[in-house]
Amino acid sequence: MNQVDYLRISLIDRCNFRCQYCMPEGAELDYLLRQELLTNEELLTLLQEVFIPVGFRKFRLTGGEPLLRPGVVDLVRAIASLPETQDLAMTTNAYLLASMAQELYDAGLRRINISLDSLNPETFDKVIGNRGRSRWQQTWEGIQTAHRVGFDPLKLNVVVIPGVNDQEVLDLAALTIERCWHVRFIEFMPIGNAQLFGESAWVPSEELRQNIRDTFGLMESNVQGNGPADVFQIPEAKGTLGFISQMSECFCDRCNRMRLSADGWLRPCLLNESGQIDLKTSLRNGVDLIQLRANVRQLLMIKPEINFKERESGTPGTYTRTMSQIGG
Ligand code: GTP
Ligand code: 5AD
Ligand code: SF4
Repeated sequence: MNQVDYLRISLIDRCNFRCQYCMPEGAELDYLLRQELLTNEELLTLLQEVFIPVGFRKFRLTGGEPLLRPGVVDLVRAIASLPETQDLAMTTNAYLLASMAQELYDAGLRRINISLDSLNPETFDKVIGNRGRSRWQQTWEGIQTAHRVGFDPLKLNVVVIPGVNDQEVLDLAALTIERCWHVRFIEFMPIGNAQLFGESAWVPSEELRQNIRDTFGLMESNVQGNGPADVFQIPEAKGTLGFISQMSECFCDRCNRMRLSADGWLRPCLLNESGQIDLKTSLRNGVDLIQLRANVRQLLMIKPEINFKERESGTPGTYTRTMSQIGG
């Protein structure tokens, strides 16, 4: 059985963008109230007394947009300084990164993944649901700053949506020729915006690879990560290309992760909602930490049965949480 030692921690469900694939357009989301979020103290208690003792060693901070979380730098410092932490990373949209990259790095963060769906400001604004002054430039500066500050690896995530940004795949892939960045193309998943998904669907990674292969050449990289991406490279390029293909492939047999929502629910699988447990309520009701540990151990045991249950059963998943509320 695969070792599950990676926890994705959503710090907040709010976001300063409204990406089409992540939040349904027009729908009002019920944001969590401040008192519903796990506090920094509760989160650290859960890490030290529950997650680390059952074997988690790698942590990724997500959102919504994690940089909107008050006290995020202190939290990074605290998690980075836990002796058991082997890896601490963040997934952000980079809009606030130009001003925060240095202090995050100084606090001990080393890896950042950034969503960037287009190099064209107009398309970018369309994807992120921005109708005001373009937000592309500030985002791009956030990425450049993260690079200058020394974040390595620096990964850019592109969710490919037919008719929206699929014509930019070659330009985005070409970023890796001169830069040591990792550009990853993600198949659009039907979580968050079922309507858009229904209208436009997803592009199989193999189709993108063929397109890139025909233009630049493409080879499998000898460095594969421990996440869901299959890693390739344009010959002689400094960076790599990753493909996250949860629609056309099943990588659940190598799944090494669980997800903790900002309001303290632990979710064993992204693609279905079975098995979730409410750690925050238990913690606030004074449930013994030994009991919580036992509950998480139990969930780890049944995770393989839960993984990808919806797909196996042939029924399309129904999701009560958007991607912004899960953290990707
Ligand atoms: P590293 O490999 O640790 O750098 O991270 P990652 O690629 O797992 O994290 P990131 O937050 O950048 O996620 C990129 C995309 O992969 C998002 O769309 C996630 O929803 C998706 N993803 C990450 N983990 C899983 C997973 O376990 N299952 C599925 N189906 N998708 C995942
Ligand atoms: N399908 C695929 N990827 C998604 N992400 C958000 N919503 C979706 C979706 N519906 C990705 C974003 C972000 C990561 C956390 O999740 O690209 O980088
Ligand atoms: Fe893991 Fe579920 Fe993603 Fe499969 S679908 S890789 S089990 S989170």
